[in-house]
This record gives sequence, C-alpha cells and structure tokens, in this order.
Amino acid sequence: MSLLIRNGNIVTDTENYHADILCEGETITAIGERLAAPADAEIVDAAGKYVFPGFIDPHVHIYLPFMGTYAKDDYASASRAALIGGTTTLIEMCCPSRAEEPLEALRLWMGKAEGLSACDYSFHMGVTRFDDAVEAQLRKIVATEGITSFKVFLAYKGAFGIDDTELYHTLKLAAELGVVVTAHCENAQLIAELQAALLAEGKTGPEWHEPSRPMRVEAEGCHHLMTFAELTGASVYVVHTSNRAAAETVLAARARGVDAKIETVIPYLTLDKTYAERPDFEGAKYVMSPPIRDKSQQDYLWAALAAGDIDTVATDHAPFDFEDQKRRLGGSDFTKIPNGIPSVEHRIDLLYTHGVATGRIDLNTFVRCASTTAAKTFGLYPKKGAIAVGCDADLVVYDPDHRSTISVKTQQMNTDYSAFEGWKIAGRSQFVSVRGQAAVRDGEFVGTPGRGQLLRRQPNSK
Ligand code: URP
Ligand code: ZN
Ligand code: ZN
Repeated sequence: MSLLIRNGNIVTDTENYHADILCEGETITAIGERLAAPADAEIVDAAGKYVFPGFIDPHVHIYLPFMGTYAKDDYASASRAALIGGTTTLIEMCCPSRAEEPLEALRLWMGKAEGLSACDYSFHMGVTRFDDAVEAQLRKIVATEGITSFKVFLAYKGAFGIDDTELYHTLKLAAELGVVVTAHCENAQLIAELQAALLAEGKTGPEWHEPSRPMRVEAEGCHHLMTFAELTGASVYVVHTSNRAAAETVLAARARGVDAKIETVIPYLTLDKTYAERPDFEGAKYVMSPPIRDKSQQDYLWAALAAGDIDTVATDHAPFDFEDQKRRLGGSDFTKIPNGIPSVEHRIDLLYTHGVATGRIDLNTFVRCASTTAAKTFGLYPKKGAIAVGCDADLVVYDPDHRSTISVKTQQMNTDYSAFEGWKIAGRSQFVSVRGQAAVRDGEFVGTPGRGQLLRRQPNSK
C-alpha cells in the first residue's frame, strides 16, 4: 500500500516548501519533486493546498465518569470526529476515582479505545491518590505500559483533587522517572468558599460559574504548582490556561528555571464569558473549568501563542449533552453542571479560521502549537508531529479555500449541541492519513475503527 501526495505546500513547525510526499506502508519514504508513483499508489492532488503533519490533541476526555454522569463520546465517535477535523493522535486523560487502583483504571481506559479508535492514541495517567500502593503501580505503568505522563488536579475537591502531600510525592516520583506532570491548576479551597457564598446569595445560574472561579484562583493554582515543581525538579505542563495572570505566573517560574509548559484550549481563544451568561440556562453549554473569561483575555492568549510563550492548543474535549446532563443535573445549581465543552472536531478549523486566516498566528506557529510541541513534550516526536523521511505517514491535506458552517446537525461528536453552532469556518481537512492509510477523503470519514494504535512512549532521560 502506498500513497503519493503531489504538489502540496508542505508546512512544518519550521519550514514551508513545495514537494511531493511518498508514503510506503505506514511511513514517509521520500520527499521531493516529481516523485514517481508506485503502481499501487493512491495519488492525492494537493496543488493549492497545505500539507501539515497530523495534528495532535494532547488533552481530551472520552471515557470520563464525572460530576454524577459520563461524558458522551466513545472512541468510535471521538476518533471519527478528531480525524474529520485533522487530528490524527489523541492523548486522553485517564481519570480514576480515588478508590480505584491506577493499573486497573489504565486497563479500563485502554480497553475503551482498543478495537474502536480509528486514530492513534495514548494516555496521561491521572494520579488522584498517592500512597505506597499507588507509587508501585505508577512505577510499573511508566516502565512497562509506555505511559510517561501523569495528570494531577489541584481542583475538584473530594473527587479527582489531591492534597499537597500527594502532590509533593507525585512530583518527586515524576522527577525521578523522567515523567511530565500535566496539571489542572485552580485553588480548590477558594472555589469551595466562593461557590458556597454565591449559592447562599441565591446565585444559582451558569453565569455564576466564572465568578466562583475567578482568574486569581487559577493563577494561585499555577503559583502553587510552580513552587512544588521548583522544589522537586519535576517537569510540568499546565493544562487549559485561560488567562494572562495564570500564564504569567508560569512564565515567571520558567524564567527562574522551572521546566514548565503552557497549554491553552480552543474555547478560551474563541469564546468569552458572555456565552455563559446567555439566558434560559443556555449559558450552561459554555460551562467548563477554568471558566471562559472576559474577551480581553483572548488578545493576550493569541499574542502569547504567536510569541511562543504558550506552547500548545488542545481542546479539553469533555462532551456532555445540554438537556439530559447539563440541565438535568445542574438546572438549579451551577456547581452541579457537568463541566466541559465538546470541541475535538473543530479545534483545527477554529484555530485556522481565527488564528491563521486573521493573521494572529503564522502557519508554522499553527503547526507547532497544534502538533509538533505536543509530540516533543510527550515523547512522540519525530514519529508524530513532523514531516520527514521515516516519520509516521500521518498527514493532513488542508484546503484553505473551503467554506462551511459548524452545526450540531452535521457534527460527528455525540452531543446534542455545538458550542459553535452557526460559526463560519474558512478551511477544511480535505484528506487525512493515519500511518499511510486514508482516514478522510473529500472531508468524509473513510477510516477504520479499531486500526488506531496505542502509542507507548519512553520517559525523558534526566
Ligand atoms: O471543564 C472541564 N475542563 N472539564 C473536563 C475536566 C477537566 O477539568 O479537564
Ligand atoms: Zn481540568
Ligand atoms: Zn480536561
């Protein structure tokens, strides 16, 4: 099986050039001008199109027992949605409850993907408790399961959240093992106090979600993590950064020598808090944590991306239905609205439309923050996140002239709403391959559920 992509404008994190790409089996085997097509080759005409490395979403939730319910996608729907949107690799948060054993949980999460995923995938191992038994299992997970990143929550008190003793020992272990620790940074106690005060005043609607978790609460969480990272020597990655105060807290630590990366997510770049203030409970569609912020934060986030201060753009895809989950569970109390916004399908198109097409970021930054830096940070590079001989043939032929409109009626994600209903999109992933095999042709899914592979990764040598 071979694939020849002809005449594309190849864009990586550092280069732009015209060439053909030949893929044989699962790998890129040649890049050059006027390459000869093997007899069995599928030929894709990429004239006038960009050819990008397959995009990587390093922060998604697919199987997620959370806030009294379960996220709505499975790997069939989520990987299909991801691929249609140009994302060829997903890294999911494996989020056990405190009572669950990590190894058992990891097997459960792996089992949800196996046989269903059409794209490649890996996991960040959630550490939601830390004791001797957990430590022994985490050592095994890193050494034998190829999972070399952890996830901790400084929020969600009484659920996924860990205390400072647990945080300290998780980071110490991660530093020893060469594992990156991804972290949800918000101060859990401040949130609990602010939520209680708002509810006591009868403020129960989704518009009170943001005031219950103001930007300082997130910046405080970042400051906390940075202090612990500095004193343990751990490498950390702050997920879903929503605002300037939080990002600058991490940047200050980076300037002191802390190995810290910053992720933002597509909802923060495109939505603002007025969406969560929409009447008739409509605002609940936009409840996620940290909350979407004042519009003024968007300019900072885009500029920080362009400057390389923010490293990655993920989704934090966390799909819950509006009617049967958000309204039913949180209709009379905003603290019970399942947190999350579905967006794995539209990250790349939204980033292209609102970032590249508006001139806020250039094409190389686009590839860097949506693919290459995630690959480098999480031990997938250069198999993923690059276009070069020997790389996995995960490729996206992107048509910048295509125009469409987002709608729940046409989306692949398994939710009853889109947070971006009616939004106009400039650009489309016209052809997508996963390890040399077509997964999208003419914007339509043609992939194979179950072909996606678990990507086993190596720890960083320290
Ligand atoms: O609101 C969010 N972010 N939901 C998913 C869970 C998490 O915190 O990442
Ligand atoms: Zn989170
Ligand atoms: Zn998340």
